[in-house]
Amino acid sequence: MDKLLIQGGARLAGTLRVSGAKNAALPILAATLLTEEPMVLSNLPHLHDVTTMLELLGCLGAEVVVDETMEVEITARQLTQLRAPYELVKTMRASFVVLGPLLARFGEAEVSLPGGCAIGARPVDQHLKAFEALGAEITVENGYVRGLAPQGLKGTEFCFDMVTVGGTENVLMAATLAAGTTRICNAAREPEVVDLANCLNAMGARIRGHGTAEIEVEGVKRLHGCSYRVMPDRVEAGTYLIAAAVTGGSVRLTSVDPSTLVAVLDKLRESGAEVRCGGDWIELDMRGLRPRAVDLETAPYPGFPTDMQAQYLALNAVADGSSHISETIFENRFMHVQEINRLGANIELAGPSSAIVHGVEKLRAAPVMATDLRASFSLVVAALVAEGTTLIDRIYHIDRGYETIEEKLTQLGANVQRISGQETG
Ligand code: EPZ
Repeated sequence: MDKLLIQGGARLAGTLRVSGAKNAALPILAATLLTEEPMVLSNLPHLHDVTTMLELLGCLGAEVVVDETMEVEITARQLTQLRAPYELVKTMRASFVVLGPLLARFGEAEVSLPGGCAIGARPVDQHLKAFEALGAEITVENGYVRGLAPQGLKGTEFCFDMVTVGGTENVLMAATLAAGTTRICNAAREPEVVDLANCLNAMGARIRGHGTAEIEVEGVKRLHGCSYRVMPDRVEAGTYLIAAAVTGGSVRLTSVDPSTLVAVLDKLRESGAEVRCGGDWIELDMRGLRPRAVDLETAPYPGFPTDMQAQYLALNAVADGSSHISETIFENRFMHVQEINRLGANIELAGPSSAIVHGVEKLRAAPVMATDLRASFSLVVAALVAEGTTLIDRIYHIDRGYETIEEKLTQLGANVQRISGQETG
């Protein structure tokens, strides 16, 4: 299993191009199942999760052609099966979003239940309730969700009990081919949902209101192929901004959409960073200063993203002052706390969903272990300022969501080395 070796102390500086968004790419890849025509997707990030989704599409019978720039052509003309197997779904929960497109186009589908994961139980009850509201018959047996809608799905009004990104995406895709109009209320407003809706509209769907909590979808008989460029990854962008800020450094990000990062940029300014933005770039300069501690609470978009909580907590760990961090989206997203404390941080858990971070002046290197994708990068953030060399184990988590992490960090002047090899224990 690969490990990362990071020698702390370098002040990050330089320019970085932001990759395409993993969390937009995955549902957009699933959307290719909605049409028999070829779809050409660009700006896909080179990540394990994207490869898993391509593998799943291939396993269903879609033709997948990838070129060296990760531009992908997918043609789901005739599928060979309508079953997404456990072996693939268990490695990536996001594959559950193939259920909506399969059900809408073929009137039947079987997708393995994804199960819980490190950050929480993450049930899919809302997805299932919405499919039932669209007229599908849903059964759960032997670990598989089976959906049947032999007469096709029917437009309806559906209100989610909570904001769910994957639920909104799954239902949005299903509704594009339903008969009549579907109104989704309490829909997720995340930019990745908007990117998916834009792609679906480019395929001939009639979606309005995406980006608000009420989305209206007028069903159409068929969708056609198109070329679509996936949006920039706001979580990757925010993560590198935090990494630069913690080292007192300065960074210019290109190929980024600053309008998707308002909550994070506000927090970085509160922490003492100078931040400037243009149409597709962001510059952050920390001027060598130690960050100030800032409180934060995660919330659905446009609130502060749960996917950047861990990284910001690591910044607060060395900030001047104490801060309170509250996680409202997932019930178990503080596993990084223990690991960051191994580096000499002073973070207390105040119940399952909040942490009090007492900023310390110095962290010191220690071996640590990555527990999930974003938590893993919080260890990188901490290691960048720790005295000495930190060894981060189990970085396969990082490779699921951060493209060429050691190259990007090295480009900014960090001392990072990947050690490939077997886990020793
Ligand atoms: C998406 O997960 C992202 N994943 C997550 O990013 C992100 O953290 C999350 O949205 C929240 O922003 C992808 O887009 C691939 P949810 P998703 O459905 O869709 C509960 C990362 O690091 N819920 O919005 O699975 C659920 O348990 C990942 O890149 C139900 O109870 O998240 C959670 O507490 C991690 N029933 C909350 O809602 C349901 O049917 C939000 O989950 C669905 C969700």
